[in-house]
Amino acid sequence: MKFFIDTANLKEIQEAYALGILDGVTTNPTLMAKEGITGNNNILKHYVDICNIVDGDVSAEVMGLDFKSMVSEAEVLAELHQNIVVKIPMTLEGIKAIKYLTEKEIKTNCTLVFSAGQAILAAKAGATYVSPFVGRLDDISSDGLALIAQIRMIYDNYGFETQILAASIRTPMHIISCAEIGSDVITAPLAALTALAKHPLTDSGLAQFIQDFEKGNK
Ligand code: G3P
Repeated sequence: MKFFIDTANLKEIQEAYALGILDGVTTNPTLMAKEGITGNNNILKHYVDICNIVDGDVSAEVMGLDFKSMVSEAEVLAELHQNIVVKIPMTLEGIKAIKYLTEKEIKTNCTLVFSAGQAILAAKAGATYVSPFVGRLDDISSDGLALIAQIRMIYDNYGFETQILAASIRTPMHIISCAEIGSDVITAPLAALTALAKHPLTDSGLAQFIQDFEKGNK
């Protein structure tokens, strides 16, 4: 199971990478704006900065809505660094672009996926990753994790090689459930990744061990 961090914050990316468990990064225009990264040149430079921290796939999103602009943006993004994966929105134009880019051996991440039908189209087009948004489905009283399970079953039925990248992950329980289902990748904020390490019995057990060690060494 691959762990990606879902942020454009370089400090958080460095912190997660230093743990030794990070396999890649996903960003989106909202996360870029949150870090104050605006303007095309600054955004492109930021992607390179991220690629220079992490040895793994880094998703970079196109903003065009039609096939032609998606493909030309994707070609610029792919030239930035060998680890760039071009994030293409789930639309019919996006599907055409994914098919085209796959044939050109440019890696893609089909984003804004909210249904099994959309995931089938992404796999048929040859997307490297498909990104179903778990948390945003939960937000509207839909079952985000059930969608991950449904896509897992469909992809396994046909041997589709597209990797399921569970996105919009908000909690450590989301991560654990995705692991149970067999999601290939999860992308989560740093807080959800580090929360996996937390347990009150670990904290109290460690405090006790330290106390007993110190008693014995007096
Ligand atoms: O990058 C896409 C996704 O992970 C966004 O998450 O929390 O804004 O729904 P969220």
